[in-house]
Amino acid sequence: MSDNVPTPDTQPVRFERLHTAERWWLRVGSLMLIVFLVVVGVDSVYNASMQSHGSQQLATENVASTAPFDKPGTYEAKDGTYDAIVVAYAFGFLPLEDLVVPVDTKVRFHVASLDVVHGFTIPGTTNVNLEVLPGHVSEVTQTFSEPGRYLILCNEYCGSGHHFMTAHIRVLKRGEDPKNPPKLDGTPVANAQEATEAMEKMSNMAGMDHGDSK
Ligand code: CUA
Repeated sequence: MSDNVPTPDTQPVRFERLHTAERWWLRVGSLMLIVFLVVVGVDSVYNASMQSHGSQQLATENVASTAPFDKPGTYEAKDGTYDAIVVAYAFGFLPLEDLVVPVDTKVRFHVASLDVVHGFTIPGTTNVNLEVLPGHVSEVTQTFSEPGRYLILCNEYCGSGHHFMTAHIRVLKRGEDPKNPPKLDGTPVANAQEATEAMEKMSNMAGMDHGDSK
């Protein structure tokens, strides 16, 4: 009788004693874990050299007086690509008017902050998503293949006006001139109060930096 009663397994569970299927799942699981760790490890080493911020340092108090950030806007390089120079501040972006670039053209964004941590994101069809740390220049490159007016957002909480912190970039159609873009249908891009404050902040900072305190 007692032969039929299964004796309780008091042995510790050993790998060889597991069911074949179970052994295979354990192997697969371990392999996945190793692959995951390798991918994360390689990525962290590789990307450390190409972070979006950190390569170029620029103190917040020097932003307004340092080229090219003293004149935010879009500029055509000699090779026909574009540089978009952007200054983020609480709570907006400079230039206040739309950035303008041609379609199918490489655009390098360079973004610096005048004060706190901001974000620089173009949602939708682009990979543009920067964290803009004070003291650093954040950079990303994007080629726009669809003409249109794209929204730019701050995606790092930066204070009470964070959710008003937007800007736009216009991607012109082929044949349109970025230096003389066709008129928009009267869309205001920033309110006057905000514009004035931003300009004052810029000129105060530029003044301070030139050391004319006495
Ligand atoms: Cu700037 Cu949120």
